[in-house]
Amino acid sequence: MLSRQAIIKQIIPHLQPNKKIGKGCADVNIALSKYWGKRQVELNLPTNSSLSVSLPGLGTQTELSLVAGTEHQTWLNHQQLDTHNPFSQRLADYLTPFCPAGLVFNIRTHNTVPTAAGLASSASGYAALVLALNDLFDWQLSDQHLSILARIGSGSASRSIYNGFSIWHKGTAENGMDSYAEHIDQTWPALCIGLVKVNIEQKPIGSTAGMQQTVKHCDLYQAWPNQAERQVQQIHQAIQQRDFSQLGQLTEHNALSMHATMLATWPPILYWQAESIIAMQQVWQLRHQGIEVYFTMDAGPNLKLLFLEDNKKAVETAFDGLEIIQPFKKSTAT
Ligand code: PMV
Repeated sequence: MLSRQAIIKQIIPHLQPNKKIGKGCADVNIALSKYWGKRQVELNLPTNSSLSVSLPGLGTQTELSLVAGTEHQTWLNHQQLDTHNPFSQRLADYLTPFCPAGLVFNIRTHNTVPTAAGLASSASGYAALVLALNDLFDWQLSDQHLSILARIGSGSASRSIYNGFSIWHKGTAENGMDSYAEHIDQTWPALCIGLVKVNIEQKPIGSTAGMQQTVKHCDLYQAWPNQAERQVQQIHQAIQQRDFSQLGQLTEHNALSMHATMLATWPPILYWQAESIIAMQQVWQLRHQGIEVYFTMDAGPNLKLLFLEDNKKAVETAFDGLEIIQPFKKSTAT
């Protein structure tokens, strides 16, 4: 089996920094067709392809520098973290193969995702980190290689290398060199994403543990990879044809199918809370009234709504405190 270190060595040309500070920034992304299940854990190789849309302005900005020392130092949102903190330990493990002998990294990372948004920031976090490394060492890596390095940090980060829509091809190679995301050259200015914040506390079971348990102990999971592969293609087509009904139906069906595999594992995994179900019923009620709105959900209790600009007012009225993002709309702010 290939290690992370071996793959990283294949991709990066050298370890001589080109400047004092390397900078990178990346946005979070919401999967419309989900990544759920790893065929290989060390390299985050997925059992199925996935497709996402990034949320501009909600993400991570990271600065990296190299200093003499023995332990990497991390600042998150201007606060220095203890080296034993799980967040800084995961970063340190990831960064060690990129570190020239005798030096350590100072990592200053800032999430522009409000911590209250209920959005996982590991996708934007690892993408921003890889972009900062690429800048620090001036590697000038291709998007494919950047996506592979980000994927090794966190699977969904492979898609956060890009703005807009992107598709992460699962690949089949043992070394994962064909498992990377690509940008989809389509925009959709009227598309709106609404964030329904049910609970913003940390989830009780992380996505890797949730996936592992589902892959191992769920008979229903057998059906998931084929369904997901098909839905990635169908969603891609719906985007190309700007067919919102198709996009919404496929996205909601895909998310509920993923959650069904979690319910059917043992012991069961349920990320939803009572308020999540109330919000789902509100979505269905709105659809019943002719307002086309759909939802998707990840490994947490919060809903992400999909609707078109024409229905913005109606959806905003139905969901108190809804944060709305239009990923492709040019800002009209002066
Ligand atoms: O990249 P991870 O390990 O945080 O996994 C993300 C899993 C989901 O958010 C549930 C689905 C997805 O494709 O983003």
